Amino acid sequence: VALRDNDVQIWLMLGVKSKAMQTNLDPDDRELQHLDSRSGAVCSKSATLQPRDGNEHPRYIELEGEAGSCSVNSEGLPNAGIGLYTDVSVLRRLKDIAVPSGKPYILSISGLSLNENLSMLDGLVKHPETLHYLNAVEVNVACPNVPGKPLVGYDFPQLADVVEKIACHAIFSPPHNVALGFKLPPYFDVPFFDAVAAMLNPQAKSRGGALGYVVCCNTVGSALVVDVDSESTVLHPKGGFGGMGGHHVRLIALGNVRQFRERLDPSIDIVGCGGVSTGEDAFAHILCGASAVQVATQHRVEGAGCFARIAAELQALMQRKGYRRLDDFRGKLRVRL
Ligand code: DOR
Repeated sequence: VALRDNDVQIWLMLGVKSKAMQTNLDPDDRELQHLDSRSGAVCSKSATLQPRDGNEHPRYIELEGEAGSCSVNSEGLPNAGIGLYTDVSVLRRLKDIAVPSGKPYILSISGLSLNENLSMLDGLVKHPETLHYLNAVEVNVACPNVPGKPLVGYDFPQLADVVEKIACHAIFSPPHNVALGFKLPPYFDVPFFDAVAAMLNPQAKSRGGALGYVVCCNTVGSALVVDVDSESTVLHPKGGFGGMGGHHVRLIALGNVRQFRERLDPSIDIVGCGGVSTGEDAFAHILCGASAVQVATQHRVEGAGCFARIAAELQALMQRKGYRRLDDFRGKLRVRL
């Protein structure tokens, strides 16, 4: 089963030790060859228990701006079902072709309920061979596009329950020790950052918990693309509303990285995600406290070559500034008083 081009979700991670990047898993060998890039990690499309076609088309649009591209999507979690993203023969091919140097493989899951997420995790524990290939599970609580399913990340009683129950799942404890991450939605005011940090911190590694990282942030929901000529919406699902990503969300993502870095236990890493299209964007995320960054929209626009380009730009910028390691400037944003 090959994912359609529109369904592909590709991420870039610039890691602490290597220029680590993350891209999606496509079981088609030709696509896997394509993944032989400067990426340092591979992350699946968010999986559900069963395969999903997602929302009706058109459900993705790119808007070009002088400063950078913006995307709006209402995909609705189209994916091949967790069986495929955890299939040992697929993962073996992935390791052989796309991640020969041992890049981590991150499985993103976005079950339609807590129980669905827990059953996916239960399934993993029963397959030690899959666990051999799996480095982290990233629980996405922030997809804005599934009709009738409001974001868990904005429903705080539900989020608290999900964080607690997922974090104490056996897969994240010895002997499995798979790393746990949560992908969060963007938040917009101080009490929200406070409340979410208060839910996450008790699960920090330094306090004996399992939580390794959070991704800040998923797309900004309820964005509406309007065509003035036809006076109509452009995307078809959900009345035209979708999640906005790319250059236009860069400052929101930076703000979320910074707000959470100020509140989260230091043992919880933050992965910056939103509007990373240049080395300078990656630098800004790291300066705000990110340990790594993900790229989605820019990859769609440019293809896998963006990984090497962004890494080279970041390296050149660091050289100009006299920095040798990411730690030289990570989290060291100066606040003017
Ligand atoms: O904007 C998003 N679109 N965020 C997600 O987490 C998933 C994706 C989709 O499939 O709708």
